[in-house]
Amino acid sequence: MDSRRQIADTLLVTLKNSYPEAQGLPDDLYGFLEVPPDKNMGDYAFPCFRLSKALRKAPPMIAAQLAGVYAQPDLARAEAVNGYLNFFLNRSNFAQQTLDSVLAAGDRWGASEEGKGKTVCLDYSSINIAKRFHIGHLSTTVIGNSLKRIYDFLGWRTVSINHLGDWGTQFGKMIAAYKHWGDKEAVERGGVDEMTRLYVRFNQEEANNPALEEEGRAWFKKIEDGDPEALEIFHWFKDVTLKDAMRVYDVLGVHFDSYAGESFYADKTGRVVEELEKKGLLKDSDGAKIVDLEEYNMPPCLILKSDGATLYHTRDLAAALYRKETYNFDRCLYVVAYQQDLHFRQLFKVLELMGYDWAKDQMKHVAFGMVSFEGQALSTRKGVMILLDELLSRAQEKALDIIKEKSPNLPDKEDVARQVGVGAVVYATLQNNRIKDIDFWWDRALNFDGETGPYVQYTCARCGSVLRKAPDLGNAAPDYSALDNDEAQQLLLLLSRFPDAVKDAAEKYEPSMVTRATTELAKAYNKFYYEHRVLDDADPAGSKARLLLTEAVRNVIRTGLYLIGVEAPERM
Ligand code: ARG
Repeated sequence: MDSRRQIADTLLVTLKNSYPEAQGLPDDLYGFLEVPPDKNMGDYAFPCFRLSKALRKAPPMIAAQLAGVYAQPDLARAEAVNGYLNFFLNRSNFAQQTLDSVLAAGDRWGASEEGKGKTVCLDYSSINIAKRFHIGHLSTTVIGNSLKRIYDFLGWRTVSINHLGDWGTQFGKMIAAYKHWGDKEAVERGGVDEMTRLYVRFNQEEANNPALEEEGRAWFKKIEDGDPEALEIFHWFKDVTLKDAMRVYDVLGVHFDSYAGESFYADKTGRVVEELEKKGLLKDSDGAKIVDLEEYNMPPCLILKSDGATLYHTRDLAAALYRKETYNFDRCLYVVAYQQDLHFRQLFKVLELMGYDWAKDQMKHVAFGMVSFEGQALSTRKGVMILLDELLSRAQEKALDIIKEKSPNLPDKEDVARQVGVGAVVYATLQNNRIKDIDFWWDRALNFDGETGPYVQYTCARCGSVLRKAPDLGNAAPDYSALDNDEAQQLLLLLSRFPDAVKDAAEKYEPSMVTRATTELAKAYNKFYYEHRVLDDADPAGSKARLLLTEAVRNVIRTGLYLIGVEAPERM
C-alpha cells in the first residue's frame, strides 16, 4: 500500500477518535492530501480548513490537536503549521516499503484491476483510403496507442478500431479515372501517389466533361450495389493504402483489433434513418434529411443528401450503435483532431435525442491540437506535407548519426537508432497536453539533454549499465538509511506516485501525464546519480540499497516508456 493511502487512513481513524461526536466527516481523506510545493513543509499536507465546518473549529486548532495524537512513527510524523497538518515520512522505512512494492511489481508497477469487467472502445488513427499517411495523423495514432496501453494496464478490455475513411463518391471517381487512364502496374508501383494523380486528373477533366461526373457516380453506385468489378478495384485500392500504413504501424508498434471503417457501416445506415424517422427526429430540408439541433445552438446534423446518399454523420451514428451492441462498451473514445469538435458534439447529441443515455457520459471526443513542422503549418493543399514513414526514417537516420558519434563502440547501432529515432518522435508528440499545438523540431526532439525521448531512454540505459557493472553483493541486507538523502527521497516519492499518474492519464485521456511522470523520474535519477556514488566498496549495505533504487527506477521508466509507446534500448 502506498504511503499516501496509509497516511490518509490513519488520519481518518485519528480524526474519528478525536472527535467522536462530529457529523458529516468525509469518508476518505486521500483526495484531500496535498503535496507541498516546498519539501521543508513535509511530504504531504492536509489542509484542516476542510474540516472546520464539520468540526466547527478553526483550522489551526484542528491541526494542533491532530498533530498531538497522530501516531504512526514507522510511516511519518505530523506537524501543525498554520492550519495545515504536515506529514514527514520516516525516510528509511519509506524507502524500504516503496522499493519492496515497486520491485515486487516487476514491470507492472501501477498496473491494476480497476478496469476489470469494463470495456473501452478506442477509435484512432482512422486513416483515409487513397490518401497519404502524413503527419496530420501522427497524433491520433500515438495518443490512441498510448491510451490503449494505459487502459490495458489498468485491467480494462480494450478494443482498438481503425475507422477507415473508405466511403464516398470520390471512390467512384477514382475507379472511373483508373478505367480511363490507369495502369495496374503504375498503381502497384506508385501506390497512393498514383491514385491521387488519377483523382486530380479526373477532377480537372470533369470540369469540361460532364459525362465523366456521371461515370464517377455510376461507379460509386456499382460499389454500393456490390458489382464484382467495382468491388475488386475498390478493395485493391484499400489494400494498397493499408500496405503503406502497415509499415508505419509496425514501426510504431501500433495494432488494431478492428479495421471496420465507413464502408462497413454503409449497409447499416438504413436502420438508423428508420429509427430517426420513427422517433420523429428527421426533418426535410430542400430534399435532404436532417436532425435539427438549433435548440442546442448547433447547425443541423445531415443524415441523407437529397439523392439519398448517406453522410459521415450517418455512418458514425451506425458505428456508435454497432459498437455498443457488439462490444457493450463502458466508454467509447474518439481520438480525433479538435477541428471535428462540432461533428462529435452533434453526433453525441443526436444519439442522446434518440434516447441513448449512454451517449452523454460514455462517449468522449479526445481532441488534440495541430502539428506544425519547424514552424511551418502543414497542409496538403499548399504542398507542405510530411509523410509519416519519411519522417520516421529521417528520425532513424539522424539518430544513427548521433549514436555513431556518441557511442562508436555500441553493438546493434541500427536497432538502437530505430528505437531512439522513433521514440523521439513519439515522445515529442505525447510530451504536452494533447490539446496544445505541437511544433516539431528535429534538434529539439533528438536532443539527448532536456525533456526528450532520447534523454529518458538514455537514463534508463544508464540505470541498466549501473546494474550490469555492480559486483555481486550476495545477500547483503540493504541499509535503507543510505537513502535518507533528499535526492533518493525525491526519487522514491516519484516512484510511489507513478501509479496515480497512470490512473489520472486514463481518467483525463492524457498520455502526457505518463510522459511527465516518467521524465521527472529520469531527471531525479540523474540528479541522484551526480550527487551520490551508487557503488561504494566501503559500504556494501548502502550500495545494495542504492542498487535496489536504481533497479526500481529502471523498471518504472521502462514501464512509463512502454505506456506511451516508446521502446527502451538496453544500451545507448
Ligand atoms: N477519417 C477521419 C479523418 O481522417 C477520422 C475518422 C474519425 N473517426 C470517426 N468515427 N469519425 O478525418
